[in-house]
Amino acid sequence: MAVPILDLSRQHQPLAGRFKEAFDRILSSSHFILGPEVEAFERRLASYCQTTEAVGVSSGADALLVALMAMGIGPGDEVIVPTFTFFATAGAVARVGARAVFVDVDPQTFNIDPQRAAAAVTPRTKAMIPVHLFGQTAAMDPLLELARKHGLKVIEDEAQAVGAREKGRSAGSFGDVGCISFYPTKNLSAMGDGGACVTSDGQLAQRIRALRNHGQVGEYEHLYVGGNFRLDALQAAMLSIKLEGLEGGNAARRECAGRYDRLLAGLPLRTPVVAEGRHHVYHQYTIVVPADRREGLIAHLKAHQIGCKVFYPLPLHLQPCFAGLGGKKGDCPVSEELCRQVLSLPMFPGLRESEQEEVAGVIRKFFRG
Ligand SMILES: Cc1ncc(COP(=O)(O)O)c(C=O)c1O
Repeated sequence: MAVPILDLSRQHQPLAGRFKEAFDRILSSSHFILGPEVEAFERRLASYCQTTEAVGVSSGADALLVALMAMGIGPGDEVIVPTFTFFATAGAVARVGARAVFVDVDPQTFNIDPQRAAAAVTPRTKAMIPVHLFGQTAAMDPLLELARKHGLKVIEDEAQAVGAREKGRSAGSFGDVGCISFYPTKNLSAMGDGGACVTSDGQLAQRIRALRNHGQVGEYEHLYVGGNFRLDALQAAMLSIKLEGLEGGNAARRECAGRYDRLLAGLPLRTPVVAEGRHHVYHQYTIVVPADRREGLIAHLKAHQIGCKVFYPLPLHLQPCFAGLGGKKGDCPVSEELCRQVLSLPMFPGLRESEQEEVAGVIRKFFRG
């Protein structure tokens, strides 16, 4: 039985009628960029994320960029980021001309290690970007304490974790701003690119709103040098419909994760530890396998038509584009080892029990040799 790593059609098909209705409404309004559809979505998203404001933007990468711009971070500043994450977390720092300072992750949760983050603070450090990797919030208590101590801004990269919580508090509501991606594979996904910044800092939200639209504060009055980071009405309308199903979708992911945990028990592999009080939303279900078995397991899964993917094969401090920052092998051993060992399995709402049994059965067969 073939099992895809992701099948969006299972999520979209039951909603097709509502999507078409929204499309017709926007077609007849001819209001395609920003406007009432975007504003309505922003209100719903802010309420869902337990913040007072949400600002829809063009992508998750641009949400990070525009947040850094709104905080005035630029040349001469340092921003602490985990090295085990998607490129955009550090790419945004480089795009504003600041220096990304790469920090290793906790071997249990795969999220930024607060102690290593503390050791990376210098007088030039202006901000940190904890990433809620794979759907589990980073250790926000010690990170917020560190930020308070040194007067740092906190930008949460919650591209993979919209709906994640710690002790009831939502991802994106801990720091100064949360940055979300609506890339089609994400837990809350658009039908194209999209993103958002969520915050309860009204002034910051105002600057982000201006910056996403060429820094305009009135018609053709440009207070800042911004850019075109706007969200369009069609994406916002689709996102409003899908936001209604996000809690259910995340619950389905959590159920699938629990089932994988049971089905894979006893095999020579491990999964990230879910820290106390965390409501993990399993953007990915990731296993850690011995490095010398991973390529074999990938080939075996492929031969059985089971989707899988390595997130991520190379830590950011070793990426060629960041070579100028001086990172070298051995700087972040936990992340470097994880990059050799991790493998993500099929995970999406609508994944069937029989499919998970197939995935687990094929993995068991591999380890039985
Ligand atoms: C951790 C992380 N940060 C940032 C991004 C960037 O989001 P986007 O692809 O919407 O620009 C992504 C997703 O691709 C991501 O996974």
